[in-house]
Amino acid sequence: MSEPYDVVVVGGGPGGYVGAIKSAQLGMKVACVEKRGRLGGTCLNIGCIPSKALLHTSHLYEEARIHFEKIGIRAKGVELDLGAMLDNKDDVVDGLTKGIEGLFKKNKVDYIQGAARLTGANAMEVALNAGGSQQVTAKNIILATGSDVMPLPGVTIDEERIVSSTGALDLDKVPEHLVVIGGGYIGLELGTVWRRLGAKVTVVEFLDRITPGMDGEVSKTFQRLLARQGMTFKLGTKVTGVDSSGDLLKVQVEPAKGGEPEVIECDVVLVSIGRRPYTEGLGLDAAGVALDERQRISTHDDFSTNVPGIYAIGDVIRGPMLAHKAEEEGVAVAEILAGQKPHIDYNLIPGVVYTDPEVAALGQTEEQLKAAGVEYKVGKFSMMANSRGRAVGKTDGFVKLLTEAGTDRILGCHMIAADAGTMINEVTVAMEFGASAEDLARTSHPHPTLEEAIKEAALAAFAKPIHM
Ligand code: FAD
Ligand code: NAI
Repeated sequence: MSEPYDVVVVGGGPGGYVGAIKSAQLGMKVACVEKRGRLGGTCLNIGCIPSKALLHTSHLYEEARIHFEKIGIRAKGVELDLGAMLDNKDDVVDGLTKGIEGLFKKNKVDYIQGAARLTGANAMEVALNAGGSQQVTAKNIILATGSDVMPLPGVTIDEERIVSSTGALDLDKVPEHLVVIGGGYIGLELGTVWRRLGAKVTVVEFLDRITPGMDGEVSKTFQRLLARQGMTFKLGTKVTGVDSSGDLLKVQVEPAKGGEPEVIECDVVLVSIGRRPYTEGLGLDAAGVALDERQRISTHDDFSTNVPGIYAIGDVIRGPMLAHKAEEEGVAVAEILAGQKPHIDYNLIPGVVYTDPEVAALGQTEEQLKAAGVEYKVGKFSMMANSRGRAVGKTDGFVKLLTEAGTDRILGCHMIAADAGTMINEVTVAMEFGASAEDLARTSHPHPTLEEAIKEAALAAFAKPIHM
């Protein structure tokens, strides 16, 4: 039995490793238990980072193959080296995960490699990766065990022909035809990767729109742009099964509201219908930790569970399953344990889809404002009228700012633009400080930048845009 820790974090993803480091920085004696054999969780190992590495390389490949010539660059014989592309992605992941081990050492966080199972409110047994087990005790435990792929009944994932996002990051050849089940973040990002590399991509979505939850106008334009890039959509359609007995996979689909079934033949299927909280083998029963109606660990506002001394953060609790949300919670829970009173505004967690153009969403959508009966104004500016966008051939999309009628306070921002994932940060900061559209519009923006479209959208919301 080792010395009791002040804090033991279970899970070394963006929620867990950040929570561990912050707790140590605040003077606590900390350990982090991770069973994967590498730190960084889903995000670094099989999520955010590898997917962005592939999105980047596939983007450059498509630019070189299709767009260079138009702007006066002849690049003959551009070829894909898929193996090297995947190796580069693995190198990026390797470097980053080792970097977190370095941060643990620097901050004196003990890294325990193994699977934790709670044995009580302040104790756990860790089945060590190296063999054997270790009893660990702690005054406080933070559960940050993340999420896992949501399975689809009738479709068995083998990670070779029928893949989850994990398999889709490692296909050893470009599919002829990739059927993506689910038109959300994963399906659209990884569908884009393989489309750029040469696959025909069909997205089958249960609802009658892609990216549900995002502003409706944005979703519609986004779908139109993806279709123009070559992606095919079957909306309002459900998958009832996949027959994998032959050389080709046979995806059985039918209209979600009922109707004639149909079969789509393909060589790879990506199942991306969401993720579910991951608590397998964690011993929640032994400790008496309660779950909510969606099998997430049930938490109060201060991340405490029903068991005193046990806290939970990240994908395994309520809220968007995003790395930066998990990180904010990691910092906040550490501060709470140190007696501070941090606050997270969940309305201001931006969501970004890293396609080209990118899509960014923040705050309330038009649909939400309508449903809540809020009087609002819309300020919109097209990227077509943005001079930097024109100069660099990035004219697709728009910035849409939603403000409260009467006060001009910004309530939401939704954009499609080449660099929307970066651009949205300006609006997040503005909203954190309760800014009005006029505040943004009167802020000097360097020229020429894509961000000037935000200034113009703000002008459009409270007065009139200059350049449109
Ligand atoms: P996780 O990152 O899932 O980490 C949990 C860790 O706990 C895991 O490493 C697991 O091995 C470990 N663990 C579980 N149980 C135990 C146990 N009993 N003992 C020891 N260890 C245990 N989010 C973004 O914000 N931006 C993106 O671009 C983005 N892209 C994504 C792309 C893909 C393909 C996927 C799948 C996800 C993506 N996400 C993205 C979501 C993001 O990865 C998650 O929101 C984030 O990783 C959640 O962090 P977490 O710390 O809560 O959990
Ligand atoms: P998602 O929730 O984003 O999208 C799932 C889609 O599948 C939805 O459009 C849903 O309507 C649809 N769907 C559900 N059941 C279906 C069915 N039976 N048949 C057809 N369609 C069905 O989930 P996704 O894409 O799997 O990603 C999981 C989570 O990972 C995201 O919600 C996000 O939190 C995170 N993520 C974030 C990224 C980013 O920030 N850029 C990138 C990738 C993932």
